[in-house]
Amino acid sequence: MPSARNSGRPQEQRKTLDRVLSRAGLMSRSQAQAAIAAGRVRVNGLRVRDPQTWVDLRSDRIDVDETPLTEAARLYFAFHKPVGYVTTRSDERGRASVYELLGELEQWVAPVGRLDLDTSGLLLFTNDSDWAERVTNPRSKLFKRYECLAAGELDDAQLARLRAGVELDDGPTAPARVRRLGASGPNTRVEVAICEGRNRQVRRMFEALGSRVLELTRVAIGPLELGSLASGAQRKLKPFEIRALAGEPQ
Ligand code: URA
Repeated sequence: MPSARNSGRPQEQRKTLDRVLSRAGLMSRSQAQAAIAAGRVRVNGLRVRDPQTWVDLRSDRIDVDETPLTEAARLYFAFHKPVGYVTTRSDERGRASVYELLGELEQWVAPVGRLDLDTSGLLLFTNDSDWAERVTNPRSKLFKRYECLAAGELDDAQLARLRAGVELDDGPTAPARVRRLGASGPNTRVEVAICEGRNRQVRRMFEALGSRVLELTRVAIGPLELGSLASGAQRKLKPFEIRALAGEPQ
């Protein structure tokens, strides 16, 4: 029998069935809930329809579509997103999705954070939701570095405002690392690194200065650089890169 809810067994050894399926890298948490409700999952031979059923991977046998669940291989890769692709799998407006560029994948993967349609650069994908949470959590203080082309000539006082934090409609931004890269005709090239990941944050920071972002590329996430990865290409992360992004010792 699957472990009953609130049974006396130590809680930390068990997880809810939907969480076990998503952490195994098979599908997202909401897909797992739907699969369980649809009767596609058995625990110790019994069909289970409650996603909140407690299971213990060490003692309970779980089958999905009659196939035993084995811990799916973890996937972690870096992708160079081109401009003109949405980060979601499907788009209500029919715009092209980054998933069209990823090709056939052995596992379900999700993007780690998002880049806007008009932003290019480094985007991570994984099926390890705990790792993704560590990478995106602002408390992990992982700086995301962007190269921006901003409209007009920005003076030093404006760049100092970006560094100190600007007021946005969802609150002030945390201090940013900002470096002038030079002029480009009438416009200004600036490198900005932020440790938050709010919606359209970099664009809104420049709008708060009275400017506008004309081009935006994410060139690094923490210690990981986009480097020479070609636009539209992907590469698997190396074990030391996975550990470094999670803030683990090398
Ligand atoms: N900030 C933005 O404004 N857009 C992005 O895509 C990423 C960060």
